[in-house]
Amino acid sequence: MNNTLCIDSQDISFESGQSIMQAACAAGVFIPHLCFHPDISPHGSCRLCMVQVDGRLLPACTTPAMAGQKIENNTDSLNAQRRLVTQMLFVEGDHICPGCEKTGNCQLQAVAYFLGLLEPGLPQMYPTRNIDASHADVLLDFNRCILCELCVRASREMDGKNVFAIGGRGQHAHIVINATSGRLKDSALSIEDRAVDVCPVGALMKKHQAYQKPIGQRFYDQNPIDQKGDANSHQRGEKT
Ligand code: SF4
Ligand code: FES
Repeated sequence: MNNTLCIDSQDISFESGQSIMQAACAAGVFIPHLCFHPDISPHGSCRLCMVQVDGRLLPACTTPAMAGQKIENNTDSLNAQRRLVTQMLFVEGDHICPGCEKTGNCQLQAVAYFLGLLEPGLPQMYPTRNIDASHADVLLDFNRCILCELCVRASREMDGKNVFAIGGRGQHAHIVINATSGRLKDSALSIEDRAVDVCPVGALMKKHQAYQKPIGQRFYDQNPIDQKGDANSHQRGEKT
């Protein structure tokens, strides 16, 4: 069977069992995403990876690749929708890039640059949420969490710990820490956990490492997120 599909007029091969996102990443085709990670089961929640598959709007990260699919990805209309989703994420939390230690290593910022988003475009909501600085090595700033659940899945699937979960609904949804006190210092989290590394924004951060690498020399400063042949290495690469 010929396992080939077409994304934006480019034919790419895929392996049986791959999603459209996995096939695209393997072929070096960038589909914007925030809740997808190549080493973690897909979740389909951020909706940034929506593509047109034979005319139907579907998330690339949870839709199986199938022979003969004609997929639209990098189009004005899809990128306009992605811009709006990204704008909403920016104004819903504290994502003031010049004041964030994650700048240059932040996937939300890098996707915004890819989409040509240079200003929020919507009213800022200025949330005031807690910061959990109780852990010796890791800090959690709830104001920057985009609820991608990557830390939840990484802790469960890769670290075997279940340190994180999502609690609440709608605008009250938030990360919950698996400890009687609800604080990081009383959880099983350690600085080596993959759950800490996979956070795409400046919500879960390692302490004592701020500004070791100057702004301008960080991962996305050197590697634009859509760089050909690098469609998912940004998530496995060095980010500190
Ligand atoms: Fe995603 Fe980071 Fe929030 Fe976890 S803390 S849900 S990885 S943004
Ligand atoms: Fe597909 Fe988030 S990457 S929905």
